[in-house]
Amino acid sequence: MKNDAIGVFDSGMGGLTAVKELNALLPRENIIYFGDTARIPYGGRSQETIMRYAKEDVAFLRKHAVKMIIAACGTVSSIVGDRPFVTDLPFTGVVLPTVETACRLTKNGKIGVIGTPATVRSGSYVQAIRKIRPDAEVTAQACPLFVHLVENGYTDFQNPVTRLVAEEYLDPVRRAGVDTLILGCTHYPVIRDIIADLMGPDVQLISSGAEAAKYARRCLEERNLLTDRETPGENTYYVSDSTEMFIENAGHFLHQNVVGKVFRSSL
Ligand code: DGL
Repeated sequence: MKNDAIGVFDSGMGGLTAVKELNALLPRENIIYFGDTARIPYGGRSQETIMRYAKEDVAFLRKHAVKMIIAACGTVSSIVGDRPFVTDLPFTGVVLPTVETACRLTKNGKIGVIGTPATVRSGSYVQAIRKIRPDAEVTAQACPLFVHLVENGYTDFQNPVTRLVAEEYLDPVRRAGVDTLILGCTHYPVIRDIIADLMGPDVQLISSGAEAAKYARRCLEERNLLTDRETPGENTYYVSDSTEMFIENAGHFLHQNVVGKVFRSSL
């Protein structure tokens, strides 16, 4: 069990923001990643559909030897909420670890949340924040185009299309005077530089993928499930549609060559 992989899934490449952090924190762990690129985006779909996709993604990961599952997707985490359907393995979504950090870091109690339409509609982040900080002022904003821009590689700092879209989406959170902004969709840290530039230096950005990875480390430590392997771990990626775009964008984002490690697999 200890030397089994950590299973991570998302609708696409957003969950790589969790993988990047896992690789930094736990370099000897093997990771099995599933990106459901044939069905992305999840964020505009109904709760029933998102739940069904999430169950199928988990079932795919469970065909491999995994010791923990991370739903590295804000949308899935928001819909699954406190009704997780994985009970015999450690499981985490991104919402709770992220909110705990945001509530700890905010000084003025004004927290922004950006996410997919399904995430914002679910109210998951807002409710979780209010449980910890009932006095917090939360401004939530859906950013439906961000996932498409990231998946299509519109991620460079100067990209005029992404900047224009980001300016429009971030305007309400900027005007609300937040000092902490939750990147509530795991795709968004890929365009973190643009978001940081528009929000200004006084606003701290919190990556939901990275916070889930930190939580996973604590969880495995507590259960004595960290690997005892001495050699570097390996990442293996599966996607449900063509591998080309994923290889190009993932390699760029992870600063690693993923050629030969990405496989196409139907659910
Ligand atoms: N990375 C997913 C999330 O965190 C993207 C959702 C989508 O597929 O729309 O919400």
